[in-house]
Amino acid sequence: MTTYFIDGQFTSKDSLTISIDDRGYYFGDGVYEVVKVYDGELYTAEEHIGRLFQSASKIKMAIPYSEQQLIDIAKELVKVNEVMTGHIYMQVTRGASARVHQFPEVSVTPVVTAYAIHNPRPLSNIEGGVSVKSVDDVRWLRCDIKSLNLLANVLAKQEAFEAGCAEAIFVRDGVVTEGSSSNAFGVKDGVVITHPATNLILNGITRQVVLKLCKENEIPVEERAFTPEEMYAMDEFFITSTTSEITPVVLIDEKAVGAGTPGVVTRRLQEAFARQIPLSVAGD
Ligand code: PDD
Repeated sequence: MTTYFIDGQFTSKDSLTISIDDRGYYFGDGVYEVVKVYDGELYTAEEHIGRLFQSASKIKMAIPYSEQQLIDIAKELVKVNEVMTGHIYMQVTRGASARVHQFPEVSVTPVVTAYAIHNPRPLSNIEGGVSVKSVDDVRWLRCDIKSLNLLANVLAKQEAFEAGCAEAIFVRDGVVTEGSSSNAFGVKDGVVITHPATNLILNGITRQVVLKLCKENEIPVEERAFTPEEMYAMDEFFITSTTSEITPVVLIDEKAVGAGTPGVVTRRLQEAFARQIPLSVAGD
């Protein structure tokens, strides 16, 4: 039976109770992280937990644990659930309190919940590429916060799914920002182009890994805004996230990207990425 973490305790799903007054439930008042597990080890855990603390601080919420304690909880969940390839989901809400919009009394403690789950690498997407659909970016202006409020992302992903696509690519004021649960990159004339890490996107941990790999492999990068027209004219396009790694995009709004197959720069980055995750990792 899967072991979960809630409020300082490791427990089974059956004995796990969440208050109806939890502000995550009422308002989406909380933040979260997804951390990949390869070969039974957390990948880039410090970066993810660091970002969890940054997100919490941006919404003026104090997490009742240290970064190291949360990493230890995540490691314990991986161990007891015997997860080899998968991920940790961890969220912190502002706690349970009668429903008023303003913050509750300081005595209300934020609630930490987490679990570890088996989840194979999406190898067929990584190898063959996916289709995406552009969608209006109607989100708020603090997309740098990994907030539980994901309604606009949910609606965008659903619209993409209904069009037979794997991901929605957000466009705000004539600029491509990011995916509904991923960051977006184009490649033009050998240069990797991606939206800068402003309030309009989540600065993905995988995005940061990719930028580092570009540097190490002497692949030029431009962090700048680009339009949908530029996006359609890219030689290559790919999306990144903790669970999708580096996924090539071969079709955008039903138009082929470049030759309609994953490009060479994308492949080089995928190979460089694969080299720095545990070697014995296969599909699952
Ligand atoms: N999503 N942008 C958005 C809006 C995201 O939700 C995510 C991740 C990313 C990529 O971030 P990272 O590389 O740190 O995973 C970018 C996670 C995986 C999710 O919501 O499931």
